[in-house]
Amino acid sequence: MTADEKRRAYRRVATELDALFEEENGALDGVAALSTFVSVLHAALPQSSWTGFYRVVEPRLLLVGPYQGPPGCLEIPFERGVCGAAAREARTQVVADVRAFPGHIACDARARSEIVVPVRDGSGSVVAVLDIDSHDLAAFDDVDRVELEALVERLQPFLRGAPVSEARS
Ligand code: SME
Repeated sequence: MTADEKRRAYRRVATELDALFEEENGALDGVAALSTFVSVLHAALPQSSWTGFYRVVEPRLLLVGPYQGPPGCLEIPFERGVCGAAAREARTQVVADVRAFPGHIACDARARSEIVVPVRDGSGSVVAVLDIDSHDLAAFDDVDRVELEALVERLQPFLRGAPVSEARS
């Protein structure tokens, strides 16, 4: 996908999510919001082989879900993999070639590149990471980083500790 095609795809995702989240009018909880987000995003990204979240369930432990794609690793400690690095450093990781990333966790032998974006709640704490994997090398770049970092902010109203009424207005 070209940069413009990516931006257009992300705009469509944003529009669709805004409509779905608005429509539900306060009925969504975290699971409903994360599932809806993954469903819309995965369908919009042909380069993605796996799209999903790992949630922070203990101080330094991630647990899979919700996601779309083949079964992912269930648990990832903060010390391991690209997801662990994103959670540990609270910073997006764009990995053009997973074989060059020390400690990459190969849940899918065909995985070649990925992007992992921290997800923050309303207080700024990282409560999950969004992981998108591809069978293509260098499928993700700075365009994806900028667009996905903006997209995940839409989840804040539904996450633990978020200022729901303020974030929705
Ligand atoms: N790519 C991740 C592992 C999770 S899956 O591939 C679904 C990582 O190295 O953090």
